[in-house]
Amino acid sequence: MNKVDKHWYKTAIFMELNVRAYRDSNADGWGDLPGLTSKLDYIKDLGVDAVWLLPIMPSPLRDDGYDVSDFKSIFPAYGTIEDFNTLISEAHKRGIRIIVEIIPNHSSDLHPWFQASRDPNHPEHEKYKDWYVWSDTDQKYKDARIIFTDSETSNWAWDEVRGQYFWHRFYSTQPDLNYDNEEVQQEMLDIVKFWIDRGADGLRVDAPPYLFEREGTNCENLPETHAFLKRMRAFVDEYAPETLLLSEANMWPEEVIEYFGDGDEMHMNFHFPLMPRLFMALARGDRQPIVDILARTPKLPKYCQWGTFLRCHDELTLEMVTPEERQWMWETYSPDPKQRINLGIRRRLAPLLDNDLRKNLMMNSMLLTMIGSPFLYYGDEIGMGDDISLFDRNGVRTPMQWDASPSAGFSDAPKDKWYSPVISDEVYGYEKVNVEAQEADPNSLLKQLRHMIKARKQYPLFGWAEFEWLDFTEGKQTVVAYKREWEGDYFIVLNNLIDQDVHGTLPADAPEYLDVLTGETVKAGDYTLPPYGFVWLKPVGE
Ligand code: NOJ
Repeated sequence: MNKVDKHWYKTAIFMELNVRAYRDSNADGWGDLPGLTSKLDYIKDLGVDAVWLLPIMPSPLRDDGYDVSDFKSIFPAYGTIEDFNTLISEAHKRGIRIIVEIIPNHSSDLHPWFQASRDPNHPEHEKYKDWYVWSDTDQKYKDARIIFTDSETSNWAWDEVRGQYFWHRFYSTQPDLNYDNEEVQQEMLDIVKFWIDRGADGLRVDAPPYLFEREGTNCENLPETHAFLKRMRAFVDEYAPETLLLSEANMWPEEVIEYFGDGDEMHMNFHFPLMPRLFMALARGDRQPIVDILARTPKLPKYCQWGTFLRCHDELTLEMVTPEERQWMWETYSPDPKQRINLGIRRRLAPLLDNDLRKNLMMNSMLLTMIGSPFLYYGDEIGMGDDISLFDRNGVRTPMQWDASPSAGFSDAPKDKWYSPVISDEVYGYEKVNVEAQEADPNSLLKQLRHMIKARKQYPLFGWAEFEWLDFTEGKQTVVAYKREWEGDYFIVLNNLIDQDVHGTLPADAPEYLDVLTGETVKAGDYTLPPYGFVWLKPVGE
């Protein structure tokens, strides 16, 4: 691995995974770091360059690890710091980078800092008393919205011990840290350093918009927040410049652009508003939602990059759509109200796409070629299903399905010891949907996706190129057709959103094109895309 390639993330393929869900090496029913290490060859084969690990730090798991009780160690069931070192060195041997999650906005209420902060009789109370946002009244910061609308009614919670309210943007078991306190800022930078020292190649920065609070604002995206993130970036640039800062600001493009700064804040931000619009376009057979959001998407500073995704460990968030669009998306993609949570839909990719392989591959075609660096979500590469009977978002965080054996290839522990039931329904159950079965089937989702990822990786252009819309079907919107151009080379990509053939015209800029996925050559002029078909065309013979 080229450790000095500072811009590696521009062309990387990322995969997000839950250590707990991946592979259990010691038969206790929980996936762990050695288990993940044993699966690195699979990850490598898939073409993944960087793995983003969901939180691996100790936590009471009230928000599945996003409620951290010790920022500088490993959740015991996942293993030890030595196991983490082994994961890093084995990953690096294979050219895979590891991204660790840091959660700067809040801790668990069981974190020793909070315990000291809330309790005037605690021996360390003096040191920690201002590490959280305390108030005598719950009437401050009224303009801040509630994010977990299904479970919280206020961003303030009363603490009996201290006799004051504390501020929390997420669950009330996740008190927000007080960034007006310089010691908190210092400590967070020290946590960044800690994980870089342990070999992390990047950090996914959870929920950055909410670090500071100011009266009369919605307490999001404040200048003070950006100043701290720039400080984090300056630290990283100085200390370990090849380290990626990847931020999760679930905001509109004109707000999220601020998180790149002038190339001096986060290297990458997820493009949240694009994601639901890919699903919207598909269900409407009309590319307009994508056109609209890309028109609102500013150009990035040169070395910055969007992170794009279809699904992740959270709900398919509908925060960045209009109320009418949200209602339509809910009705279309979550007919059963139990499939909804907060402002979103808690389902996995394959079920959202009616388990239709054509739709799945076409959506992945857009993911791999449209803009940014793509993020896969573990299990979606084999079309895993979800389980809405499970609490919160746990239904999309079930054990990885490796094979059809009773252990699903995940764990040799008795099933009642597993951290979660495995998907076992008739359509998506591990007996049917698993890696082993798909390795044996040349037309499986896994095989076809792997082929597409390989193709994308041959062309760094997809990570760097400009994006330009093409009119393939003379004014009709059923094909998501675009050109990606970089340093004199270009690709034409066509994605058919509907279940019918679509006829159109390939531009005559080149006499013919190479379809890099099939190896066939096609002539400029009349062209027909099959239902949900897609092509990635490279001009030849100019
Ligand atoms: C965003 C994470 O993706 C989500 O899973 C978590 O609940 C919140 N941040 C709070 O940390």
